[in-house]
Amino acid sequence: MKGIILAGGTGSRLQPATLAVCKQLFPVSDKPMIYYPLSVLMLAGIRDILIISTPVDLPIFQRLLGDGSQLGLHVGYARQSEPRGLADAFLVGADHIGDEPVALILGDNIFHGHSFVDLLAANVTNVDGCVLFSYPVNDPERYGVGEVDERGRLISIEEKPERPRSNRAITGLYFYDNDVIEIARRLRPSPRGELEITDVNRAYLERGKVRLVNLGRGFVWLDAGTPEALLQAGQYVRTIEERQGVRIACIEEIALRKGFISVDECHQLGAEIAESSYGRYVMAIAKEVGSVGDVASGPAWYR
Ligand code: DAU
Repeated sequence: MKGIILAGGTGSRLQPATLAVCKQLFPVSDKPMIYYPLSVLMLAGIRDILIISTPVDLPIFQRLLGDGSQLGLHVGYARQSEPRGLADAFLVGADHIGDEPVALILGDNIFHGHSFVDLLAANVTNVDGCVLFSYPVNDPERYGVGEVDERGRLISIEEKPERPRSNRAITGLYFYDNDVIEIARRLRPSPRGELEITDVNRAYLERGKVRLVNLGRGFVWLDAGTPEALLQAGQYVRTIEERQGVRIACIEEIALRKGFISVDECHQLGAEIAESSYGRYVMAIAKEVGSVGDVASGPAWYR
C-alpha cells in the first residue's frame, strides 16, 4: 500500500502564525507536526510515501525528511498549487499510487492509543472499498460526520453538517482501494469550491464498500488545526511522554523497531541531534535495542 500525507492548505485558522510557516511544520511538543501522521503510516508498515504541499512549503519538508532513506523509507514530494480539497490528493498523487491501494492521512491529524498498531494491521491489508476511522467528539459540526444504524453500519456521511446526526467524526486517516483515483476524477467541486473527501467516501458508501472502524473513548485523536487544538496536542504529548518516559511519534524509533533501519543507523540519527533530549532518546533506544540484540524484542505494538 502506498501512503500520502496531505500537508498543504492555507492554515487560515492558525493565522498569523501560518503566514510564513505552514502548520504541519509547527512543533507539537518537541517535534514537527508531520512526524505524527508520518509515524502512523510507518506503524502501518507503509514505506513508500508522498508528501503533498504547497510549492513554497515543499522544499522545507524536503529539507526535513529528504528522500526518507535515512528512515528506510522512500519519501517523494508533489505540489498542490491551490488548496483544491482533500480529494485532490488522489489526482496529484495518481502516479505515485499507480495500481496499488493507498492510505491518506492529513498532516495535522494526531492519533495515539492502546492497540492502534493492531488496528492498523487489521485494516491495512486487503482493502476492498475504503476504511474510515470514526471518533466521538463534542463538536461534530467541525468534521465529516458518520451516522450508523442499530447494527453499527454506516448509513450516511456528511461534511460539516449544521445539524449533525451523530457525534462520530470521520478522522483524517483513510484507506482506499485503487478505485479512489477514478472516483476522485469524476468528482465535482463542492459549493466551497473543493474536491471533498466526504464525496469520495459517499461514493464508496453508495457501492456498499465502506468499513467503519470506531476508535473508542480510550483513544486520542486530535486535529491540530486551531490554536486551542495545537496547544492541547502539545500538552497531551508532553504529559504522556514525561509520565511514561517514551516518545510518541519518534520516527527513528519506529523505523528501528519495524526493522526499516539498523541499530547503528538509528544511533547515528540520534547522534546528529544529540544536543536535544529527543536526539538523546533516539540514541538510548538504539543502545537498548542493540544490547538486547533483537529488534523484535521491543514493545509488541511495534510489530
Ligand atoms: O481532520 C478531519 C477532517 O478533515 C474530516 O473530518 C473532514 O471530513 C475533512 O474534510 C477535513 O476537514 P478540515 O476542515 O479539517 O479540512 P481542512 O480544510 O482543514 O484540511 C485538512 C488538512 O489538509 C489541513 O492540514 C490542510 C490540508 N489541505 C487542505 C486542503 C483543502 C491540503 O493540503 N490541501 C487542500 O486542498
